[in-house]
This record gives sequence, C-alpha cells and structure tokens, in this order.
Amino acid sequence: MVSRVIPVQPFDLVLFGATGDLARRKILPSLFHRFQIGQFSEDTRIIGSSRADLDRPEFQELTAAAIREFGQPGETNEADIAAFIKLLDYVAVDARGDGGWAELGQHLRGDVTRAFYLSVAPSLFTDIADRLSASGMVTAESRIVLEKPFGHDLASARELNQALRAHFQEDQIYRIDHYLGKETVQNLMALRFANSLFEPLWNSSHIDHVQITVAESIGVEGRGEYYDRSGAMRDMVQNHLMQLLCLTAMEPPARFTPNAVRDEKVKVIEALDPVAPDDIARGQYRGRNGDSYREHAGNPGSTTESFIAMKVQVANWRWAGTPFYLRTGKCLRERVSEIAVYFRDPPHNIFEGAAGVHGNVLVIRLQPDEGITLRTTIKDPGPGGMRLTGANLDMTFADSLPDAGRPQDAYERLIMDVIRGNQTLFMRGDEVEAAWAWADPIIASWAESETAPQRYDQGGSGPEDSLLLMHRDGRRWRSIGD
Ligand code: BG6
Repeated sequence: MVSRVIPVQPFDLVLFGATGDLARRKILPSLFHRFQIGQFSEDTRIIGSSRADLDRPEFQELTAAAIREFGQPGETNEADIAAFIKLLDYVAVDARGDGGWAELGQHLRGDVTRAFYLSVAPSLFTDIADRLSASGMVTAESRIVLEKPFGHDLASARELNQALRAHFQEDQIYRIDHYLGKETVQNLMALRFANSLFEPLWNSSHIDHVQITVAESIGVEGRGEYYDRSGAMRDMVQNHLMQLLCLTAMEPPARFTPNAVRDEKVKVIEALDPVAPDDIARGQYRGRNGDSYREHAGNPGSTTESFIAMKVQVANWRWAGTPFYLRTGKCLRERVSEIAVYFRDPPHNIFEGAAGVHGNVLVIRLQPDEGITLRTTIKDPGPGGMRLTGANLDMTFADSLPDAGRPQDAYERLIMDVIRGNQTLFMRGDEVEAAWAWADPIIASWAESETAPQRYDQGGSGPEDSLLLMHRDGRRWRSIGD
C-alpha cells in the first residue's frame, strides 16, 4: 500500500495535564502512533507539564506505560516506544504561580511551530494562557489547544474567548470537539458534497425527519462530580450532537476551507428555533445495587439528566417542516452513534394492495462498525405476485476498504491538524457561543420549573417520555442495537 502519511515539520508540543487521564489514554498514545508511522521525525519535542514533581525519566516511564496500556493492541512494540520516549521532556509548572515557567520557556525552540495543549481543568485555561503570554512564550507560530467543556454557558464561554484573544488570534485557537475528528463524521461531508445523488434530495421536500443518536452503554462512574454539574445537555448535546446536526443540516460550503465550513455551521445553529419544554424528554438511570446515577454522582437528590431526547427545528428554507430528533444517554442498551435520515414515502403507490412501500432510510453509522446503510424497498423474491419487502444496501468501511486499516482515533487526526494549522475540524469562537446561546434557555427552564428527569432502567432505550415524544408525531425511534 502506498503510504498515505503526509509528514509534518518538527514541532514543539507542550502538554499541560500530562499525567492526567486524557493524556494517558488518548493524547500520548495518539502522538506515539503518528510518530510510529513516520508522520514526524525525531527532531520533534513533546514536553509534558503538570503540577507533579517528576523528572524526565519518570515522565518517560509514565508515557511508556500509558502506551502499553492504551495504545492500539498489536501496534505497539518496545523498540518504537523506546524511540518515541526520547522525544519527551518534562517541566513541572504551577498554573497559578510563578514556578516552572521560565524553565519551560528555555525548552522551546524559536524556529518551529509551538502547540500548547491544555488537557487540564477548564478553570485553569485562563491562568495558563496568561502565564504563557507573560513569560514571552506566545509567538506568531504558537497554537493553543483546549479540551471541552468550553464554558458552561454563554457568559462563561464569552469570557473565556475574550481571555484567550488577549494573547492569541482566533486562527491560533483550537477548540477540540473530538467528534469532529471521527472518520465517519468527515465522511458525512464527503457523502453529501462529493456525490451528486444525495444533495438534490437533501431538504424538507424529500426528507421526512432525521434522527441523531449517541447512545452509550457505560454510566458516569468515576466522573460523577463533573457530570452532575453538566448533565447530558452540556456534556453531549451542546457540543457533539450539535456538531452532528450542523454537518447534516448545513448548506454546501463554497470550499472545503476552515472558515467556509464553519460559517455554514454557525448559520445552522443560528437558525435553530427555541425548543419547547414539551419537545424534550429528560431521563436519569436507576440502579439496583448501588449503581444508580445518583449513587454514581454521589448526590442523592440529583436532578441532573443522564439522558435527553429532543425535537429540534432548523428554521430555514431547506428544513422547514423536517424535524431533527436528537437523543443521547448513558447506561443504554448499546454503544451506538448514528445519523438516520428518513426520506418521505413515494408520492404514489402503483403497487395497489401491496404493503411494504416505505420511504428510504439512509443511516450513517459513526461507531461501532463505521459505515453507511441505505434501506430500500424491493420485490419480495419468488412466486406470490407483486409483494414488496425492505432490503439494505449495506457498506461497512472495514469490508469495503480493507487496506485502510483500523479507523484512526479522532485525537490522532486532530493533533496533526493543529500542527498543520488546519482548523476545519475545530470549533470557532462564535460557533461555541451560538451553541450556548441556544442551550442556555433550555437549561434555565429546567431550573425554573424544578422538574426532575424521569427514571429509566439501565440497558434499555431510555425513559418512556422519549418514546412518547416520537409516538406523538406518529414516528418511532430506531432501536438502539439489536
Ligand atoms: C465526552 C463526554 O466528550 O464524550 C463523555 O464528556 C462521553 O461523557 C464521551 O462518554 C463519548 O465519546 P465517544 O468518542 O466514546 O463517543
């Protein structure tokens, strides 16, 4: 197979929060893999940083252990790990004090791209940005990378944007939504804008409704404290589901450039109607043996939702009359993320008396088993007259493109995009603010009405209200898993 790796120039990457969970699980193994396949050379430096008082060999050992534990099975080997950890260095810094900043500055080179990756609590974003700037480390070739959550409402997101813009230009700020780095999410753009088949039908004249589901089988164990302050609305809908909605609903950008794509996404968010309370179903998982949401969250009276379903309307010419149903939750039957586009029934049935004529459904599966399925209606084979039945045109990427190897982890792609300076898959400041401006009144209405989410059993499809939300409109959710 011809190498598809496009090498990047050597760079300096400072990883704040280098001993944290995300760094160990995702960021360091992703960097390792891209080094292993030759995307960057030994002349690159990765400088771990955190409060912890480690020396270089200790950080190297911590990284090697993280790669062994979280790297792709079958892809890690000791020789490559040994080569990779030579790129590493470590400087302890005090995000809220003076300690370590001067030393960190001495580790950076003047002539290469600098990426400051903040894999830290959001409360430290501003402190770190201020100190990077005050210590003279922010050059024209510097980029700052921020993990979500980016603010917890519009006011805090605005404040954070302003604080960052005091030191960085917008084109130096990379706000991560890791859903944008998923292979199939980008495929959604390829499907829509590199094929002529779908786009003429991609509107309310032909599409009845769209269902976007991000279901998880795991609960919030271990992250209860953070999650209880966020809930599914802040943790998933304002960002990941919003991005999926935008990519499904947006107009074709004139070019595949960062701002052309992001301009179109902002227009979708700004076109969203406010969501009526009746169009939302909130749920919270119950438990039996100390494993309910409330126990995981350590908050016996919690009214935070671990599930949400809602009907959303994009109020523009293309989508008027075609609702988008969004649904996400924890402790559901299976881990499934997909976008299902339901086309309208054929306008006229020539097969008189033959049941089974249904609209087509295009399903874009993000995970697991990435691929695309188109439900079609065909003749039921064999004798018995003209009977109709449903059949799927099914494509899984793994089967259709066996040479492509495993799907790349979202973080691998996103980190390399930072180094390349490509912001297409990152959220722009105005985009994040627009998403909060839409979400804020919804969240505020729950606080005002003091309504508690409906309880649901683990391992199912969420609360009853979610099913009713669909039934009321004469529709049904796709089942979550088999
Ligand atoms: C994170 C959320 O952003 O996305 C988590 O904070 C969630 O609560 C996760 O579990 C889901 O990501 P993925 O890639 O596993 O679908």
